[in-house]
Amino acid sequence: MSEKYFLHNIGKPESKSLAFYLANQGYSAWEKVVRQWQPAEVIEEVKKSGLRGRGGAGFPTGMKWSFVPRDSEKPKYLVCNADESEPGTFKDRYLVEHEPHMLLEGIAIASYAINAHSAYIYIRGEFAHGAQVLEEAIAEAEAKNLLGEKILGSSYDLQVTVHRGAGAYICGEETGLLESLEGKRGWPRLKPPFPAVVGAFKSPTVVNNVETLANLPLIFTRGAEWFAAIGPNPKNTGPKLYCVSGHVNRPGLYEFPMGKNLKELIYEECGGIRGGKKLKAVIPGGSSVPVLRADQIDVSMDYEALAEAGSMLGSAGVIVLDEDACMVNALYNLERFYAHESCGQCTPCREGTTWMVKILKRLEMGGGRPEDLPLLEDIARHINFRTICPLGDAAAMPAASFLKQFRDEFAAHAELGRCPQRR
Ligand SMILES: Cc1cc2nc3c(=O)[nH]c(=O)nc-3n(C[C@H](O)[C@H](O)[C@H](O)COP(=O)(O)O)c2cc1C
Ligand code: SF4
Repeated sequence: MSEKYFLHNIGKPESKSLAFYLANQGYSAWEKVVRQWQPAEVIEEVKKSGLRGRGGAGFPTGMKWSFVPRDSEKPKYLVCNADESEPGTFKDRYLVEHEPHMLLEGIAIASYAINAHSAYIYIRGEFAHGAQVLEEAIAEAEAKNLLGEKILGSSYDLQVTVHRGAGAYICGEETGLLESLEGKRGWPRLKPPFPAVVGAFKSPTVVNNVETLANLPLIFTRGAEWFAAIGPNPKNTGPKLYCVSGHVNRPGLYEFPMGKNLKELIYEECGGIRGGKKLKAVIPGGSSVPVLRADQIDVSMDYEALAEAGSMLGSAGVIVLDEDACMVNALYNLERFYAHESCGQCTPCREGTTWMVKILKRLEMGGGRPEDLPLLEDIARHINFRTICPLGDAAAMPAASFLKQFRDEFAAHAELGRCPQRR
């Protein structure tokens, strides 16, 4: 697929208006679905497309929807996760601000599939502009009866509500998000039960990422088979947004099929490393995933290939570090973020992230010692998989991988007691 789906309107400020969207076949998929398809058929089509969630874990979307109990008498909810707080990630924000109707069309299709009549867009507090764009787009769509009651003459009703968060990374985790949506502190819940069974307001709920939902109009316009043919293999299908930041010549948001080669992305699309320097490291999927060394980047950006290379696709937030980057300082910076964002419910995460910050600070600033390396590894090991939600793992994985991949640099800091680059 060489044409762009998500980014083909870049540079056209009118792309967010309903008139523009309708003039470009917008809502034709939704019209077809609500008039001609049964919800179970919609789920089957999405399964056939191979679409996997773009929020980080890559869970198959159709399968997630099929876990919603159809016989439950409780209301069902669709929640669009627009919290996007993972460092290095800025794809959902683009879609919200520039393609709100593509997202709303996806939300309508997903809600219909799970028989939800209320959908929420939980948007990160800092995205004030995005929230306003969405409110306006909802009003436009309601005025044309694309949302609201008895949509397009059918018997289906759908109300979409924008809910602004207060700016917390943990509210991107789906159960922390649901607590926050219910008006409580964003403390993740123990799973099971999973949200598909007990979610918002104790009712069956599907939480899907913005980019995941924005793929749906394409699937129902072109067909699941067409969609499934995009990408390197049947487990990795469809178009994909890649966010590239750090020491490259052309950082930014890129669109390619799933499975773009990481080396090509950096050297051909992003113009290589800034200032002609050498590459040192790449974090391929947002700050939570294990770091790769420069010699490991000739890899397809898909779930399985990156796992084989020792990392993850995550949110496809590619963070590039050149030869001058201090890996201890980079990790110190990341761990400060996780310590700050830990919700504090679990001791290993709350205390462990804080301890890691203390140790990294002294390794970087002064007072570091050789025992700090095994101590850091020990803390990371003890956070891993012993917490309520995956934020603990998200903090532990970078620490373990930075230490493994760049051991010499950590050892040099420990030997000297501080960063060799600092005077
Ligand atoms: C700490 C943490 C933060 C997360 N932040 C986000 C986020 O900002 N946006 C998002 O879509 N998913 C985020 N996730 C993943 C969600 O929990 C959930 O898996 C996702 O929204 C499901 O959507 P998908 O199936 O469409 O990928 C986060 C997970 C964790 C553990
Ligand atoms: S792992 Fe961390 S962020 Fe997640 S629930 Fe426990 S303390 Fe909170």
